[in-house]
Amino acid sequence: MVYAACVPLIFTMWSVRMQTEDRVAALLAQMTLAEKLGQLQQFTGDSPEHRDWVRRGMVGSIINVTSSRSKSPAAEANALQEIAVKETRLGIPMIFGRDVIHGYRTVMPIPLGQAATFDMELVEEGAAIAAREASAYGVHWTFAPMVDVSRDPRWGRIAESGGEDPLLNARLGAAMVRGFQGEDMSAPDRVAACAKHYVGYGAAEGGRDYNTTYIPEGLLRDVYLPPFKACVDAGVATFMSAFNDLNGVPTSGNAFTMRQVLKGEWNFDGFVVSDWNAIIELIKHGFCADKREAALAGLTAGVDMEMLSTCYVENAQALLDAGLLSMEQIDDAVTRILRIKERVGLFDNPYLTDERTSVVLAAPHLDAAKRAALESCVLLKNDGALPLPAGLRSLAVIGPMADNPKEQMGSWTMDGNANDTVTPLTALREALAGRCDVQFAPGVPDCRSTDTAGFAEAVRVASACDAVLLIVGEDAGYSGEAHSRAYLTLPGSQDKLVEVIAACGKPVTMVIMAGRPLALEELVSKAQAILFAWHPGTMGGPAIADLLLGTAAPSGKLPATFPRTVGQVPVYYAHKSSGRPPRAGDHVPPIGTPLDPSDFAGTYMDSSHMPLYPFGFGLSYTTFAYSELTLSTDTLRMGESLRATVTVENTGSVAADEVVQLYTRDLFGSTTRPVKEMQDFRRVTLAPGERQQVTFTLNTDQLAFHNPALQRVVEPGAFHLMVGGNSEEVLLAEFTVVE
Ligand code: GLC
Repeated sequence: MVYAACVPLIFTMWSVRMQTEDRVAALLAQMTLAEKLGQLQQFTGDSPEHRDWVRRGMVGSIINVTSSRSKSPAAEANALQEIAVKETRLGIPMIFGRDVIHGYRTVMPIPLGQAATFDMELVEEGAAIAAREASAYGVHWTFAPMVDVSRDPRWGRIAESGGEDPLLNARLGAAMVRGFQGEDMSAPDRVAACAKHYVGYGAAEGGRDYNTTYIPEGLLRDVYLPPFKACVDAGVATFMSAFNDLNGVPTSGNAFTMRQVLKGEWNFDGFVVSDWNAIIELIKHGFCADKREAALAGLTAGVDMEMLSTCYVENAQALLDAGLLSMEQIDDAVTRILRIKERVGLFDNPYLTDERTSVVLAAPHLDAAKRAALESCVLLKNDGALPLPAGLRSLAVIGPMADNPKEQMGSWTMDGNANDTVTPLTALREALAGRCDVQFAPGVPDCRSTDTAGFAEAVRVASACDAVLLIVGEDAGYSGEAHSRAYLTLPGSQDKLVEVIAACGKPVTMVIMAGRPLALEELVSKAQAILFAWHPGTMGGPAIADLLLGTAAPSGKLPATFPRTVGQVPVYYAHKSSGRPPRAGDHVPPIGTPLDPSDFAGTYMDSSHMPLYPFGFGLSYTTFAYSELTLSTDTLRMGESLRATVTVENTGSVAADEVVQLYTRDLFGSTTRPVKEMQDFRRVTLAPGERQQVTFTLNTDQLAFHNPALQRVVEPGAFHLMVGGNSEEVLLAEFTVVE
């Protein structure tokens, strides 16, 4: 009976899809080659030249048409759209894109911070808010989610990602696609999403942006592709090809990743837009000799729309005439673009009619931004300094990120407004008004400054107060695109500032804002407590104040490993064993020690091999005890599932959330397997003393990997199953998979 009830819905969905296909096919049949090529062209910004191109039917999309500062976004957007709709022969509307990466006017924590929440419902809510605000300003399409697995904190764009783990990136990406697009992306408060940067961009050599990537196909399929597949499964409308050279073939000219995998194996029916000038940059790569070859490479490989450069419109006719390109290839690209325009509802509603600009910064939006900031902060250390004592009479707030509303928002916040941001200093002064004197000294002019003239005032303020709160880190522009680093310490003279403040002898709490994991080994001893806040967005101040004052308990977990020093990079939890894995407590042989091969292992002479803080790590104001890990079975046949149940107890005195993590290890494989892989996670709330049974279901399919023959297989054998509050401290059980 249930099926019968679904038939009308299935039919409706089918008939809508067929209407779309029929409509697109009918339009395509009328189009000239010039009009088809026009759909493949994207520009940025409104200008007389771009309007002329639009008037000639030569533009399919324009990005950055309006902004949150637009006084009348409808007038601005509709003026451009009217040219396309009313002054061209077929009146095909343009699709307006914009980078709405982690919020529009209400700025959420950077995506790496949102990943630290391990709370996908909250991530989805944040994307829905971003869509609601951006669509009110005429945005049809956002270039998010970014799901590049990032295992190198030197890479500035780790800030925009879900971190080092494929599953976390996959779930974050799918949640954002759902939030941006909803069930029907033609709804006035939704936007089309874009999975980027396809693919492997985060594996740049040296962590240097745009640099070469070498990723064996098995690793590509096991680690870097799954987050993108999750976005396809969530219904993402578009993809963006990347800048990187992948195994010698740039991703924006890579038929394997786009034709074979994305559009072939995955049957993706949306369209691919290149990244900024990535088509013409095929020449710089040394992959194409000129724009003609670049056009051929991009179109043949499956990039449907060219962002900014004009290789396609200038060369496609000649390539067709030379028989190097087929009209079917052109038609496929145009069809995909028209299909998404139809699904976004542009043919029926090309104009911004209801300017809901009052929707920005709505109270529920700010509330969600605060919750996201609260859940994103990771407590790395607490020797009792936090929560700050209720009877504190004076608090010194020191550091360049304590009251910096612009930098607090993080990278990719072109529609954020610093005037909306509430900083930690403001929030603390409001919360402590009348009961604690809050004094402030920045210590340094900005995060990167080496000017120490402000130290004396900072020391004076710190010495005069009962406790010190250091708020330091990276400014927003120190991460993000083209902003990679060779060092992972605090920029400028902040390390020295921490030293002199710690020497004042007062209890020191450190809050660090940054767009990446930092190497904090030298700093840990300087503070009794360390809270890592990423770039927390508009409501970062109230969230941090609530955490510092104990109104809320920290619950964030690290989405990326924190190294002791940059020399350890790459260092990530899902690493391989090697034939000589380092042993706990490895010692360094003193000078003159005779070489003893039996003593050799894979550690360092000048550092531990262990990271400073592991993936999944995060403390709270309570403690959690894990016990009674049981499996429904210890033997699984192919295709079967087991249930793993663990008891988690809040053994402290405050209610708090815990992110329970499930890992597995395949002990032996025809391809060597990581020492552990996260298979699931669950955020639970526990009152003091409360015990909760958490049950995960694990199917053998989750154990699949690509063998040397590149077959996706699950191999029988012995496995470990691990559950814990981070990737290092786990309870372990064993199970076997049999044929
Ligand atoms: C940039 C970025 C990409 C962004 C695009 C449009 O270069 O690489 O993430 O979406 O151009 O701004």
